[in-house]
Amino acid sequence: MSARPNDLPAPFDVERIRADFPLLSRTVNGKPLIYFDNANTSQKPRAVIEAVDDFYRRFNANVSRAVHTLGEEATTAYEATRDKLARFINAPSRDEIVFTSGTTQAINLVAYSYLLPRLQPGDEIVVTTMEHHANIVPWQLLGDRVGVKLKVAPITEKGELIVEKFVDLLTPRVKLAGVVHVSNVLGTINPVAELARAARKRGIPLLVDGSQALPHMPVDVRALGCDFYAMTGHKMFGPTGTGALWARKELLRDMPPFFGGGEMIREVRFDGTTYADPPHRFEAGTPNIAGFIGLGAAIDYMNSVGRERIAAWERELLDYATAALKTVPGLRIFGEAEHKAAVISFLIDGAHAHDLATLLDHEGIAVRSGHHCAHPLMQFYGVPATARASLAFYNTREEVDRFVEAIGKVRKLLA
Ligand SMILES: Cc1ncc(COP(=O)(O)O)c(C=O)c1O
Repeated sequence: MSARPNDLPAPFDVERIRADFPLLSRTVNGKPLIYFDNANTSQKPRAVIEAVDDFYRRFNANVSRAVHTLGEEATTAYEATRDKLARFINAPSRDEIVFTSGTTQAINLVAYSYLLPRLQPGDEIVVTTMEHHANIVPWQLLGDRVGVKLKVAPITEKGELIVEKFVDLLTPRVKLAGVVHVSNVLGTINPVAELARAARKRGIPLLVDGSQALPHMPVDVRALGCDFYAMTGHKMFGPTGTGALWARKELLRDMPPFFGGGEMIREVRFDGTTYADPPHRFEAGTPNIAGFIGLGAAIDYMNSVGRERIAAWERELLDYATAALKTVPGLRIFGEAEHKAAVISFLIDGAHAHDLATLLDHEGIAVRSGHHCAHPLMQFYGVPATARASLAFYNTREEVDRFVEAIGKVRKLLA
């Protein structure tokens, strides 16, 4: 038996990982599927699919209501995900994890429960040019109601946030700042800890959209020093309709409920109702129980692979793919930040993004084309759309080779 010295990490066995994802073995248009649309949604490992299946087969019941055995089993499994998620992001307490349907709901919860009661006409909210619509439109809706302005921190042509400009915008009028941790279009990894320090110094809470960070790298909310962290489960190998908001306990404590109904109350009387403590105060109604149990399995799965190793493998794939794509004449990459995740937005001279994606699909390659829910970023670059290859830890160098080869073929077809 050959022993591996303890200080040497085991090599990243991507084929073994791929075997855990049933969908990755299918074909599309007669070709083995290459799934490069992970920023849109990720594929699910067998462990997640089986956890959902197991719930419905063996202990389907509503949570937090019934004292019977099935109800207790369902509640235990569902609540276990809260503990797992808290550990996953190093939250100080499980009670700081509010389950939501995803990032969109998490940000809207902050908008309506935290921010709206605090806003006065003339107040400001700061975001960046590279935000997803989920971190723009909720603030605009508040702006329309209260007369609040959205201030936008600019980025460079390479797709990096201009930190000094962001900090300059943090004036006493600002009631909240929001930033995407990893851009879903550019792959840029923003310097959240630095932004959080600047915001904290000025008493401004910082909300971080973590949708694209959690599936790809370790995240530690204590080290980041932010105040709100929004998450979406379906991009981190869990089921759709799952996600969470992490918020500091002292912020959650002072937030009124956003949705009213069952599960979120202490006592309901016609002359006045009292509410449960956080996080349940924000979780009205029957949740996506199976989905959250599946999300727990996804977190276990990512932990078993190791997020440092995931990040290192994806970095390798990113460098490999970027170098190869740069040799393709007429291909332009959007987003060349120094700190970057494995997201590559691109266009080829004279070709529309949708044509690129359609022709790549003929080769069995799934990439997204469009504005990626980031209209202002498209406006910044002066293009209506891009094609985007977004990778995950189950992708391989061979897939990158086939992708680059297919791009060459598509380029000739569209020339
Ligand atoms: C950066 C970013 N923020 C927010 C979202 C919205 O996530 P969800 O639709 O799961 O709420 C996405 C999803 O595309 C995203 O990439």
